[in-house]
Amino acid sequence: MRPGASFTLLFHLLPFLSTCFSSEEYEFRALLSVRSSINDPLDALSSWSNSTSFCNWHGITCVDHSTSHVSIVRLSGKNLTGSLPSVLFTLPFIHTLDLSSNGFSGGIPPEAFSNLSSSLRHLNLTNNHLSGPLPLRSDGRDKIINSSLEFLDLSNNYLTGEIPDEISNNFPHLKVLDLGGNSLRGRIPSSISKLRTLEFLTLASNELVGRIPPELGEITTLQFIYVGYNNLSGEIPPEIGNLTALNHLDLVYNDLTGAIPGSVGNLRKLRYLFLYQNSLSGPIPPSIYNLTALISLDLSQNDLTGEISEEVIQLENLAILQLFSNRFEGTIPWSIAALPRLQVLQLWSNRLSGEIPADLGSQNNLTVLDLSSNNLTGGVPEHLCYSRRLVKLILFSNFLEGKIPGGLSRCRSLERVRIENNRLSGELPLEFTKLPLVYYLDVSGNGFSGRIDGRSWEMPALQMLSLARNDLAGPLPDSFGSENIKNLDLSENQFSGGIPAGLGRFSELARLKLSKNQLSGPIPEPITECKKLVSLDVSKNHLSGEIPAGLSDLPVLTELDLSENRFSGEIPQDLGKTGSLVFVNLSHNHFHGSLPATGVFLSVNASSIVGNPGLCGETARSGLPPCTAAVEKKPRRFSVTVLMVGLLILLLSVLLFLLIRRRGREHIYLKKVEVNGNGVWEVRVFDEKASKVITADTLLTSIKEGTVAVPDGAGDGMLFAVRNTTDIPRIGWAEMTDMGRFRHRNVVGLAGACRSETRWVLIYEPVDGGRSLSVALGELSWEKRCRVAVSIARALHCLHRRGMLLHGNLTADNNVVLDGDGVARLLINVFPSGCEEGKRECTEEGKDVYSFGVLLVLLLTGRCHVDAEADKHGGVVEWARYCYSECHLDTWIDPVMRGPIAEYQDEMIRAMELAVRCTSVDPTQRPCMKEVVKVLEKSVEKPGSWVSNIKRALAI
Ligand SMILES: *[C@@H]1O[C@H](CO)[C@@H](O)[C@H](O)[C@H]1NC(C)=O
Ligand SMILES: *[C@@H]1O[C@H](CO)[C@@H](O)[C@H](O)[C@H]1NC(C)=O
Ligand SMILES: *[C@@H]1O[C@H](CO)[C@@H](O)[C@H](O)[C@H]1NC(C)=O
Ligand SMILES: *[C@@H]1O[C@H](CO)[C@@H](O)[C@H](O)[C@H]1NC(C)=O
Repeated sequence: MRPGASFTLLFHLLPFLSTCFSSEEYEFRALLSVRSSINDPLDALSSWSNSTSFCNWHGITCVDHSTSHVSIVRLSGKNLTGSLPSVLFTLPFIHTLDLSSNGFSGGIPPEAFSNLSSSLRHLNLTNNHLSGPLPLRSDGRDKIINSSLEFLDLSNNYLTGEIPDEISNNFPHLKVLDLGGNSLRGRIPSSISKLRTLEFLTLASNELVGRIPPELGEITTLQFIYVGYNNLSGEIPPEIGNLTALNHLDLVYNDLTGAIPGSVGNLRKLRYLFLYQNSLSGPIPPSIYNLTALISLDLSQNDLTGEISEEVIQLENLAILQLFSNRFEGTIPWSIAALPRLQVLQLWSNRLSGEIPADLGSQNNLTVLDLSSNNLTGGVPEHLCYSRRLVKLILFSNFLEGKIPGGLSRCRSLERVRIENNRLSGELPLEFTKLPLVYYLDVSGNGFSGRIDGRSWEMPALQMLSLARNDLAGPLPDSFGSENIKNLDLSENQFSGGIPAGLGRFSELARLKLSKNQLSGPIPEPITECKKLVSLDVSKNHLSGEIPAGLSDLPVLTELDLSENRFSGEIPQDLGKTGSLVFVNLSHNHFHGSLPATGVFLSVNASSIVGNPGLCGETARSGLPPCTAAVEKKPRRFSVTVLMVGLLILLLSVLLFLLIRRRGREHIYLKKVEVNGNGVWEVRVFDEKASKVITADTLLTSIKEGTVAVPDGAGDGMLFAVRNTTDIPRIGWAEMTDMGRFRHRNVVGLAGACRSETRWVLIYEPVDGGRSLSVALGELSWEKRCRVAVSIARALHCLHRRGMLLHGNLTADNNVVLDGDGVARLLINVFPSGCEEGKRECTEEGKDVYSFGVLLVLLLTGRCHVDAEADKHGGVVEWARYCYSECHLDTWIDPVMRGPIAEYQDEMIRAMELAVRCTSVDPTQRPCMKEVVKVLEKSVEKPGSWVSNIKRALAI
């Protein structure tokens, strides 16, 4: 007999048992039945045996040892699994039942609540895997049931259904009600207002809709309200202002509209007011400045307007003020500087103008100051770091002028400094280049002048330094006092002298930009020791000498710009073989000799090599004169060998052709179709169904539509995509046929393909109810988004294993569709990688991994490649990296993501970490798809993890 079954049997016998045995005996047997009904891998219940009094059993406390009745059962965090033992709920003298943080699953048994012990005060089932609805008694809506329950915590489970109206008459004495982190739907019932003793209400992270019921204002005992992360809409009811005991009000991440009601000003005990990420409009009601107990005020990411009042001075306990991403205008109130407890001030992305209050920092403990992307003028205040605690100073994209004040340059607590794109000037103070903790320093786009050599740079933590677009001059220093520099941008200044050989010690350097200066001399050979260099731009200087041979050995070099210098000599033939190189510009130098006929140089544009009179080359696109002399030199004897090899190749191809034809006869139909005025098309069909669909008519429609067209009826759900042959140069029938044969459950395969002289039309298998990911994204919860990630990762892994690569980027618009069952599928669009399985050096695969990382960022944040907010940070990838390392999840997670958020926070952060790794600038740091899938599938084993939900959903 299964333990569960014996338990159920016992349960039915209980009424009988309780009449036959004393209550003690009944409790004893009930507890033993619990032990046998649940799984206890850690043997937490080993003391639960018949040999000792149950009052001494682990987790049991009795009221009084002389009478021996179970009063408290506390079994939190014991890895217990199985169904909830409802007999515990009915023990006659039980007061506290805490089964939190275990693995109990299945529904809450209705009999647990219908026979709830009248002595139970405290019930805690948080952090389990409970599912299904809340099974409350509904024997008459108004009938008060005699329950004494005061604390009910069911948070972080998988409960579904609506919040029942009966909750108020089932548990009329509740003080704490926590239903957060479930999947509850529907509205917040107004009957909840009958809970007249409620102090703590959490409904956060569910899928609740509709208005916040005004009746909530009747529960005057309320101290804490958390209803954030739902889909609530409408206005904040003014009745909220009646809750004068309120300490904490959190309505974040909903779709609340209208103005913030002035009645909020009545909440004199309020310490935390969080309304961020809604669509609230209008000004801050003046009454808010009456909330003198406030510690944290966060109204960011709304559509609020108007000015921030000087009355803010009344908020004398305020430590955190976040008003970013609104439309506030006017000046920053000077009284802000006098708030004695202020630590964090974030007002970025508003329309604030005027000067930063001159005393800011001198009377408070500022740790974070972000005023970026406003219209601020005047100077940077002297005392921002008076407290010696300032960690982040972010003032970029304003109109600030003047020098970096002395007080700030000695601010040794600073870690992140972004003052770029202002009108700051003067020299960089000597102390400013000796800050021990600064890892990110961007002063670009200002008017800084003077020299930066001949001083000591002692910035051991520095990873990113940009001095670009200033008027700095003189020689470059040999060191910045950091071994960790990854990104160094000194472009667009007046630097002169040579490139210091000391740069060769920067073993982490990935990007070096020295363009538009007056540097002279050669590229020092030691630079080729920077093995992680991805991008090297020294264009528009007076550099000379030859290209160092070692440059060809840089394993991940992707961009190389040497244009508009005085470089000479031949281009090293090996440079073309550097597989990672995709962009090269050698124009306007004095190079001579022949252009390498390999790698990047095969497809090089004329503009990238123009202005080198001595250069010759064989590829037509290069626009160079042919190297005739070089060809003639070749000894004639070779031509015999060439002829023989040629013959052999011919023979082999004939054989291969015959082979392919035979296989073709089995599976592949070939025909020619004449399309009205659009030439003759060769058509291959990889799926018999397609042969009926591909007609002159369907081809014509899809060519006319230009992109993906779904011809109604005729196409039978097939997708037609048109590509110009120049867009997919490497594809011939052989590759297309490979693609056509490829099948995977997460790939929309090719049903057929058609080729004319200039175009390919690809015909994809029908996808019932398919929608592009970008269209569907807004409706997807985190679990569903995870499923998308895993599906696409698997598809990519499988493609890579077959030696195929995606052609172009992976985009939610074009390549990823969700079919009618919600399964994500990749529209196959690939070309051969030329890599063999298991060869880790295949950097080209890294491009797909990068694309996948960008997709993962989209799934997490809702932001894609084209995004204004992300562009401020230098693109979505940089933005994601910034968010991952700097910001709370709230600020980057997709605001429209459906479903619970809080319980998945750790998983989201782990996914973001994976995304950041996938989009690493250095391709060698990116995991391969095999590893990505493995990382995902490994977590599948862990119960309760995000991937296990996926596994469940995919029914693997
Ligand atoms: C305890 O239970 C075991 C079987 O579970 C039984 O063999 C034993 O006799 C019991 N002891 C007492 C003291 O009831
Ligand atoms: C409980 O189970 C989880 C996952 O199965 C495991 O990671 C954890 O270590 C277990 N706890 C203990 C105390 O063994
Ligand atoms: C329930 O238990 C958790 C620990 O597992 C605790 O953090 C929480 O405060 C408890 N809830 C109540 C209402 O006491
Ligand atoms: C509650 O608030 C509303 C609107 O702010 C007000 O009209 C009403 O009189 C208040 N009720 C009580 C009992 O204070």
